[in-house]
Amino acid sequence: MRIVICHDYAEMSRKGFEEIKKVVVSKEQPVLGLATGSTPIGLYQEWIKDYNENKTSYEKLITFNLDEYVGLPEGHPESYRSFMNHHLFSHINVPADQVHVPNGNGDLKANCAAYEAAMEQYEIDLQLLGVGRNGHIGFNEPGTPFNQTTHVVSLDEKTIADNARFFDGDVNQVPKQAVTMGVATIMKAKRILLLASGESKADAIYELIHGKVSEQIPATVLQNHPDVVVIVDEAAASRLSR
Ligand code: GLP
Repeated sequence: MRIVICHDYAEMSRKGFEEIKKVVVSKEQPVLGLATGSTPIGLYQEWIKDYNENKTSYEKLITFNLDEYVGLPEGHPESYRSFMNHHLFSHINVPADQVHVPNGNGDLKANCAAYEAAMEQYEIDLQLLGVGRNGHIGFNEPGTPFNQTTHVVSLDEKTIADNARFFDGDVNQVPKQAVTMGVATIMKAKRILLLASGESKADAIYELIHGKVSEQIPATVLQNHPDVVVIVDEAAASRLSR
């Protein structure tokens, strides 16, 4: 595991995008796993800036997002599909039929199977991850078996409380379930890039690096992956000794 400690969020975002760009320029058909949340927004801004300034083409890019809420109507501003359109996809030239976000409506079991089947046609070159305060990755909450593929989850109370900020601060508006790539799906990626910023992530980052590998703290599974880059700011790294 390579750990990069940055001064602040802006540096974390720049260094994070450098990792994305390395993959994009080295592959004929790059396949990226993407994430939502406030953490990768700066990285996506760097990406758009690079696209505008350097005209890097994303015509061949294939993407798979980690997760989606269950039951939000299509076009809901807080769906992860809308998030990705708003923060990235509508600003770069990736074709719409090459981006994939799990479907949180209709027959969820069938949607999960279809998502796994779509991913099986490719190998994810780089999977971008954030981390929850409780150590969740994607929406794999504490206690999720490590052998699960894409599945439906009930969100942890802590996660619902954390995400209420996107729903007028009202926990009642936050969906209680989500569809997420499983830990086994995430671990199949060739390389994993995890970003974290802020003191609220310091415990999760400490556990991810020094904790015992345990399904109770899903991010600890990354200790078992052969190629992980963790890019954090000083606040998220505050429990690590230098
Ligand atoms: C969300 C997402 C995760 C994300 C995490 C942290 O619930 N499902 O993929 O990494 O929580 O979010 P943030 O980056 O806003 O702290």
